[in-house]
Amino acid sequence: MLILGLETSCDETAASVVEDGVRVRSSVVASQHDIHAEYAGVVPELASRAHCERVLPIVRRAVAEAGATYGDIGAIAVGHRPGLIGALLVGVSAAKALAWSLGVPLVGVDHVHAHLYAGELGRDVPATFPAIGLVVSGGHTSLYLMHDWLNVRRLGATIDDAMGEAFDKAATILGLPHPGGPNLDALAREVGANDRLVQLPVSRLGADSLDFSFSGLKTALLYAARGVPNAKDEALKPQPLTDERRRDLAASFQRAAVGAVLVKLDRALERVRGEGLAIQTLLTGGGVTANSRLRSELGRWTQRNRLSLALPPMGYCVDNAAMIAGLGYHLLGAGRESGLDLRAVPTTGL
Ligand code: KG4
Ligand code: ZN
Repeated sequence: MLILGLETSCDETAASVVEDGVRVRSSVVASQHDIHAEYAGVVPELASRAHCERVLPIVRRAVAEAGATYGDIGAIAVGHRPGLIGALLVGVSAAKALAWSLGVPLVGVDHVHAHLYAGELGRDVPATFPAIGLVVSGGHTSLYLMHDWLNVRRLGATIDDAMGEAFDKAATILGLPHPGGPNLDALAREVGANDRLVQLPVSRLGADSLDFSFSGLKTALLYAARGVPNAKDEALKPQPLTDERRRDLAASFQRAAVGAVLVKLDRALERVRGEGLAIQTLLTGGGVTANSRLRSELGRWTQRNRLSLALPPMGYCVDNAAMIAGLGYHLLGAGRESGLDLRAVPTTGL
């Protein structure tokens, strides 16, 4: 069955055709980075307007690139939560119109849930359960226990910034252009980068906490870059932000941010194994899974713990519609079809 997926929750207009939940026949993503760059963040009204202009051409391209016609499409899946409400409404309205006019089922998909599915796309062997799920994106950072694709329990989430948001703000502090995360990653990867220049805090929260916090790390980076306000100690006063220091601060930030994720993964695994669950897999998704350091550390962590790792291919880390169509297939299979009264909702249901 071919499912056409639509995604317009933030600043990417995306459409994709996926066969039987796994074979991606096309995935078209139009990013709006150029529109929002001068504001160093996403401006909701500009995002909605750009989605309106782009959604139908992107859908047409996705169907054509899949080598399909509208008559071949068996269902429409749409990311209907969470996100910017005006942006979500564009995708939801387009999806309803398509489903109604083609006479095919409509299914609303939770975008955060879909990020967990991204590692399944294009894999030959399906993921095995129970699994721990990790979403690290610009808007969400959470851990889940998953018994199957649809049976998901949240174990913890960020209490302040999302990890991607912290990367973006850290990049701004270091004078890097929007979108910050990939630029900070590239700077931290430069030859000679010293990830131990400064010991930035690795957030742990309470001894048993599975929640995340990135705001302290962000402030520590700000002080390392600009000096601690009113400091008497010479070492805490502002130092020239040379290219070399920016590079080393980027690497130190990345080391601490990734370290915080590993702490929580250790705790989560211990907790669920303690409940008698034989965890098989770590499922991951969200824009920050494109991060080079996180990818390699997650590889090592899963090897150490004898788990299989579902890491999205690079094209499916950041927002895309293939993950929406893929998860939509499982939702439809479980009878979770939506009506034409499907609503756009700003928060996740996960
Ligand atoms: O999943 P996504 O496209 O959007 C949300 O659902 O929020 O994630 C976007 C986030 C941005 O904060 C971006 O800076 C971050 O993912 N990101 C990265 C990298 N690539 C994207 N962060 C760190 N390293 C990267 N290579
Ligand atoms: Zn996302």
